[in-house]
Amino acid sequence: MSTVPVQQVTVLGATGSIGTSTLDVIARHPDRYRVYALTAHTSKEALLAQCREHRPRFAVLDDANDAEWLQQALAPTGIDTKVLSGPEALCDVASAPEVDTVMAAIVGAAGLLPALAAAEAGKRVLLANKEALVMSGALFMEAVERSGAILLPIDSEHNAIYQCLPSEHRGGLAKHGVRQLLLTASGGPFRGWAAADIAKVTPEQACAHPNWSMGRKISVDSATLMNKGLELIEACWLFDAAPEQVQVVVHPQSVIHSMAAYDDGSVIAQLGNPDMRTPIAYGLAWPERIDAGVEALDLFQVARLDFEAPDEALFPCLRLAREAIQKGGAAPAILNAANEVAVDAFLTETIGFSEIAEVVAAVMAQPYQGDAASLEQVLNADRWAREQAEIIVRQRMAEHSPL
Ligand SMILES: NC(=O)c1ccc[n+]([C@@H]2O[C@H](COP(=O)([O-])OP(=O)(O)OC[C@H]3O[C@@H](n4cnc5c(N)ncnc54)[C@H](OP(=O)(O)O)[C@@H]3O)[C@@H](O)[C@H]2O)c1
Repeated sequence: MSTVPVQQVTVLGATGSIGTSTLDVIARHPDRYRVYALTAHTSKEALLAQCREHRPRFAVLDDANDAEWLQQALAPTGIDTKVLSGPEALCDVASAPEVDTVMAAIVGAAGLLPALAAAEAGKRVLLANKEALVMSGALFMEAVERSGAILLPIDSEHNAIYQCLPSEHRGGLAKHGVRQLLLTASGGPFRGWAAADIAKVTPEQACAHPNWSMGRKISVDSATLMNKGLELIEACWLFDAAPEQVQVVVHPQSVIHSMAAYDDGSVIAQLGNPDMRTPIAYGLAWPERIDAGVEALDLFQVARLDFEAPDEALFPCLRLAREAIQKGGAAPAILNAANEVAVDAFLTETIGFSEIAEVVAAVMAQPYQGDAASLEQVLNADRWAREQAEIIVRQRMAEHSPL
């Protein structure tokens, strides 16, 4: 019999790739975890199936009619889940006093407010939603500091670095003898392609990642290398690193999830099969280790590990992200918002793949006077950048139109 106290867990973005992997790990350890709340945007059928299996106290959907549908669908099952709706309900189930742990796995800027609410309420925050930290890194880290929240990165790279650093790593890398963070990148599905071929790729090709199975937005971000750019910004906030201290290393096998290079010449790496259940289980159980359902790594089968420098001429998003964190202030929030609009336009086949970076660069090149010192300022920058990106996308649409 386990003597570990049972954790009440809220899974924000439960119906997504990270959300379903989280529930898979939770289901393996019924003695350790209870589901307090599950949330989705519009996937009501999937949320119904999850409610049947995990019997949460609360479920949240965006739309009130969808919530009503789910409540009615649950009625004959005898499951006592209360269904709520709207963005405020996301913050409520992320910060409720009964909750110990929050998995922040909503995609994009929509995840910022509930993730921040969890941080402000002092929860164990398992942060998959990197966009939250990119948009409001200073505010987010201050909230964690103030409330005593435990922030555990779920992005496999940052989770790896977390595992490679001393347990107390705040205060700057130099203080702990760390020279550099080596952030690995698979290089995405178009590594080594010619620019002319990349310009013609379809959303289906961009979403077919060679090693990881993920949601559509992050799959496109991986293909443009914007994902690595967002991760570079995330690493700077999580580990008090300067942008120059984070080196991106393309490693196509995705077996080394990232590394820390120390002053004495040691490089410590974390390895494993590319399966997000490993970092999720690490976050849920930290500082203990639990079974994640992940197969042991077979190094004989892996056989070789390759490394190369990223091609920033072919994938300019990485450079744009580095420029945004170097500029600071509202620039990362602007980069993130412009990218979300551009990725959406690519997924709906409104613009081409190479235009994603062009839209982001065009928005970033425009003068913006605001700062990002308060949540209101962050949200203003986000709104402004979305409007600018939408104008540029509409112009591009008109140019592409045959008339
Ligand atoms: N997938 C990975 O392997 C991976 C790895 C590292 C980090 N991450 C990060 O984890 C986050 C989630 O990624 P994912 O791949 O799991 O995404 P995903 O599969 O697209 O799932 C996104 C989840 O968020 C919900 N959602 C979307 N828009 C929302 C909104 N406006 N309001 C409330 N909920 C909303 C979705 O609900 P519906 O189902 O109803 O749309 C779904 O539950 C992203 O920030 C990503 O960068 C993912």
